[in-house]
Amino acid sequence: MHHAYVFDAYGTLFDVHAAVRRHAEAIGPDGQLLSEIWRAKQLEYSWVRTLMGAYTDFWKLTEQALDYALKKVPSADPGLRATLLEAYWRLDCYPEVPAVLRALKKSGARLAILSNGSREMLEAAVKSAALDEILDDIYSVDAVRRFKTDPAVYDMVTTAWRLYPDAISFQSSNRWDIAGATKAGFRTVWINRAGLPDEYTDLAPKLILPSLEGLLTGG
Ligand code: LAC
Repeated sequence: MHHAYVFDAYGTLFDVHAAVRRHAEAIGPDGQLLSEIWRAKQLEYSWVRTLMGAYTDFWKLTEQALDYALKKVPSADPGLRATLLEAYWRLDCYPEVPAVLRALKKSGARLAILSNGSREMLEAAVKSAALDEILDDIYSVDAVRRFKTDPAVYDMVTTAWRLYPDAISFQSSNRWDIAGATKAGFRTVWINRAGLPDEYTDLAPKLILPSLEGLLTGG
């Protein structure tokens, strides 16, 4: 067991597709497509803005990405915009998350989130999933005004915790985030929930798990 764990938020602890799924009936047949475009654009905007040096917080990008997705998927009613955005503040966490985090905490580990999300978004999601009592820290990129995979983001944790990055186990389901964290020196665990093919092979994780559960058995 390791003693310091950092978790990505969206896709790793919280299911980003839960907002659309919750309103699947109202959205109609193209819900999955809408959700995928929404997420892909949200991430694209984060990378483009970091490259340009034009930071805008993740909530604004989430709104802009949904506006684009709703235009791209004409079968979805744009009148659902406010409802979908509201759902993003209380996304479901993946089923194993509370028990795994609780067990790690009980073993004496220190636990944090490191995420692109704004502090307000992260605090709301953590509270809604009742993880606020378990997590020690929440690190938002808001503090450095750059998104992942900028090295300054990963440095936030090592600086705050005064630990070498290889003493920290970093979990993300986003393979590109694992590449960034590996480059920063963390011991990385790719939570490959969707069974996706590997990429960024020169920046490989130490371990690949299908869910967070494997962390309790030697991850
Ligand atoms: C995050 C993005 C990667 O939570 O989903 O940082």
